[in-house]
Amino acid sequence: MASKLWVLAGGMRFFAPKHMVPTLLVLFGIVVAASGGRAQTLPQYGKDIHLGVVTCAGSSCHGAIKPFKKSTVLQNEYVIWQKKDKHAKAYDVLLNERSKRIARNLGLKAANTAKICLDCHADNVPKDKAGKTLQLSDGVGCEACHGGAQRWLGTHVAIPDHKQNVAAGLYPTEDPVARAKLCLSCHFGDQNKFVTHRIMGAGHPRMPFELDTFTAIQPAHYRIDSDYAKRKKIANGIQTWAIGQALAIQQTLDAMTDPKRNRDGIFPELVLFDCQSCHHPISNLRWQPRKGTGLPPGVVRINDANLIMLRIIAKRVDPKMSEKLLNETIALHQASTKGMDAMAKAAETLKQTVGKLVGIFAKHKFSSADMKPLLEGLIAEGRRGEFTDYAAAEQATMAMGAIIEAMRKAGVINKKQTAALNEALGESYKAVEKDDTYRPETYLAALAKVDSVLKSL
Ligand code: HEC
Ligand code: HEC
Ligand code: HEC
Ligand code: HEC
Repeated sequence: MASKLWVLAGGMRFFAPKHMVPTLLVLFGIVVAASGGRAQTLPQYGKDIHLGVVTCAGSSCHGAIKPFKKSTVLQNEYVIWQKKDKHAKAYDVLLNERSKRIARNLGLKAANTAKICLDCHADNVPKDKAGKTLQLSDGVGCEACHGGAQRWLGTHVAIPDHKQNVAAGLYPTEDPVARAKLCLSCHFGDQNKFVTHRIMGAGHPRMPFELDTFTAIQPAHYRIDSDYAKRKKIANGIQTWAIGQALAIQQTLDAMTDPKRNRDGIFPELVLFDCQSCHHPISNLRWQPRKGTGLPPGVVRINDANLIMLRIIAKRVDPKMSEKLLNETIALHQASTKGMDAMAKAAETLKQTVGKLVGIFAKHKFSSADMKPLLEGLIAEGRRGEFTDYAAAEQATMAMGAIIEAMRKAGVINKKQTAALNEALGESYKAVEKDDTYRPETYLAALAKVDSVLKSL
């Protein structure tokens, strides 16, 4: 299931967008005061009318065949989105065989008319916010990410002042906190839309997500250059990774403390747990004790992949908070063996700590000095036996990709060193290619390869 993503992720990592390199080197280290986005309402729930992709796609607007040389923005965004970006096909997916099967299994009349599917696979705003030219069949269109254009459509052409446009309803996608919230609202779900285990059981794919990796995989329809830097703040890859992890946990904890989403009859909601702790062949014996959970064998484990990543980052930025996070994570695992209410209570405590970390990460100046220690921290956590669950190994792999790419962009490693690290990383990608046959010891061997290259630098 995940193999397609790995090929893609691996490919993008190894041939990262060239246009972003020189300017990021110059601008590296800029602190992002990631705050503007926190109060911003998500596009789907905003008060503005969505006018539809056709409004943006004019050839002198964002529908040019080639990028405009003298313009601040590319102006061929529509063409990139339409030709290369999977978001443009998100509605079409609802008409395919797999969706038909999901709909049939769930007893839905059709996937492409069901609100639960359209909410993530299209720009499905309430009727009174849907302009005459908004088409659900356009899938995840411009305004599903950039916000209903009713108020900013006129001004964003005449006055290219980003702050003013944001005040008029443009969603601040450049802000890592706001971006994480936006992407996760569909790539994990929120209080209004959520892929439950019942939907997965009907055939919906798993939804692994890492903000920096997915930002890199999404075909870029923007250019981060000096002009961009004048208009917007730039977050580096490490900060994007860190904030993405913290927000992913916040969303998970929100679900865990939401009585509408955290249970299903006598069971808790199973998507909150590690899928492979139930789904792997019985003959594939691989259980080992983990200090980070303190759980005995034969217990369904909460998916704590993002929590592991978060404590690795916190260890570098604020070791005391990392310690606190580890203790509270163990408490959450332990509470999950006692009952739903105990689990929700432990999740509530963790929420406070994670909330503080979001603030700390948003202010922290993640610099090139942080990169190698973070990579070493990741490997150390793996060697301690914390990546025995598939989801953790998968997150660790995407994280290593993000860090190596950031090191390359910052000039911490040269071309030859980057190639050597990426070759070793390839083994990790291979080890997580198939979720059902995942073996922790194969992953450890792959990690050891990255470690030995890192030590030889
Ligand atoms: C919370 C948001 C959300 C909801 C609700 C949701 N999906 Fe999805 N769906 C996604 C995302 C995100 C992906 C892409 C996952 C990836 O590739 O990483 C996806 C992927 C898929 C795929 C696989 C697409 C491919 O290219 O192979 C199918 C099929 C699908 N969804 C159908 C449905 C149907 C049918 C429903 C309604 C029952 C539904 N989805 C509800 C977010 C959602
Ligand atoms: C899945 C979310 C998503 C969709 C869909 C999307 N964008 Fe974007 N867009 C982004 C992100 C992320 C950025 C980069 C961060 C930023 O500058 O805001 C961006 C940046 C931009 C920029 C800013 C470039 C700059 O230099 O400031 C423009 C213009 C733009 N998008 C236009 C479009 C148009 C037109 C469409 C539809 C054809 C579209 N986008 C669809 C997420 C999206
Ligand atoms: C309105 C819901 C929605 C939002 C918001 C959204 N996505 Fe998606 N995204 C989807 C769906 C649905 C798919 C699957 C489409 C398909 O398979 O054709 C998808 C697919 C993707 C893919 C392709 C994954 C693959 O397996 O190839 C990437 C990358 C991606 N999204 C990144 C992002 C990023 C980055 C953001 C935030 C800037 C974002 N998305 C915001 C719904 C959304
Ligand atoms: C507590 C154990 C448990 C966890 C955790 C769990 N599942 Fe399941 N899953 C089940 C059971 C039980 C079934 C029903 C099996 C059946 O009907 O034969 C099932 C069914 C499924 C099916 C349908 C299989 C089929 O035969 O059609 C899919 C797909 C699935 N789960 C995906 C997931 C994903 C993805 C996750 C993690 C996000 C997950 N599951 C987490 C126990 C679990």
